[in-house]
Amino acid sequence: MSIRNTIGSPVEGQNFYDREEMQARLWDRLETDHVLLLAPRRVGKTSLLYKLEATAETHNFKAIFASVASHSTELAFLHALLEILAGDRGPGAKIVSRAQKLLDRVKKLSVDKISVELEMQQWQDIGAELLQILRTVDGRCVLMLDELPIFVLNLLRVHGRERARLFLNWFRHVRGDRQARLGVRWLVCGSIGLDTVTQRERLGDTINDLAIVRLGGFSREHARDFLADLAATYSIELSDEVNGHILDKIDWLIPYHLQLLFSMVRDLEVITPDIASVDQAYDRLLTNSHKSYFDTWVQRLLDELGPIDEDHALALLEAAARDTSGAPKSVMRELMHGRGADEQLTRYLLGVLESDGYLVEDSDRWRFRSPLLRDYWRSMVLS
Ligand SMILES: Nc1ncnc2c1ncn2[C@@H]1O[C@H](COP(=O)(O)OP(=O)(O)OP(=O)(O)O)[C@@H](O)[C@H]1O
Ligand SMILES: [Mg+2]
Repeated sequence: MSIRNTIGSPVEGQNFYDREEMQARLWDRLETDHVLLLAPRRVGKTSLLYKLEATAETHNFKAIFASVASHSTELAFLHALLEILAGDRGPGAKIVSRAQKLLDRVKKLSVDKISVELEMQQWQDIGAELLQILRTVDGRCVLMLDELPIFVLNLLRVHGRERARLFLNWFRHVRGDRQARLGVRWLVCGSIGLDTVTQRERLGDTINDLAIVRLGGFSREHARDFLADLAATYSIELSDEVNGHILDKIDWLIPYHLQLLFSMVRDLEVITPDIASVDQAYDRLLTNSHKSYFDTWVQRLLDELGPIDEDHALALLEAAARDTSGAPKSVMRELMHGRGADEQLTRYLLGVLESDGYLVEDSDRWRFRSPLLRDYWRSMVLS
């Protein structure tokens, strides 16, 4: 089966590689719990959700997917949810028609101009009715929400903490409802850690019912086989030595980085790439014209942390990027001290940078988790 070299969009069908163990783990967890899938950005979360959606029936689940990143009000969130419940893939005819009726009500509200008080009342009423609908789901259904943390950040930024708490409390209440739990499981994830967002805003209690599952890179063995399959698709002869060299260069074996470097090797148009070809491809990946592949890593810092903490985080990353083995922890501490950040804030920021896949603790140092990202940082951000 040939697997195509995809760089950016979520992958589906035969272009989705492996993740067998993770799929089995998630299905097993969903038997009993709602799940928060945690992974650094670009690790392959959305692709995995698509895969789960496509294979749900073999696990006796229906699965429906919604991305809620672009919304910033509770009504818009409910609109997105009702839309998938009322769609073709919805969980049964009874639900579909009730969801459609409620959706029509939401649609009417978004046309009418209403006061904030009325809007708050309306979303809570509709939220309560949605729960009634979820209580009547026949069989089992997984509702997958991608980019939920971005929606929560939007709520926080536009409407403040109290409103975010009200929403998160409602959502927790829905998840915890005994009757709804018989048929419904929630699987939430996003490119920003919901755990770090809620922890920072002291809202951690609103998500502590979710079972946490972490998604990381491929094992070396899977990454090697993945590259071999990609090479076969494009009739490229990749020796074990060259394959191993790609793995060494990438080191943090997330499929996106493997796909990126492979695409650069492909662009060289050599049938039998050697070690020098891989080095050349790697260097090309770091040139200006490929900057957009990594921009998200800079951009999301601002979204997640806001301007002041983003500045601190950039300073930490700059320090770690200077040396391939990172920066000593003591240097990081002094740096933050000099910037007026206390120890608690420093710990929080390093925690975010670690869980989002930027940095990793290495004995008494903090270094970049991905050499590729570090080299990008050096060439783009530090220059
Ligand atoms: N299972 C996989 N098989 C092959 N390639 C994959 C797989 N998962 C991810 N990729 C690669 O990673 C890229 C990003 O995947 P995806 O959009 O699913 O990640 P994400 O974690 O949702 O990213 P973001 O944090 O930006 O939302 C894809 O374009 C593809 O190159
Ligand atoms: Mg995604």
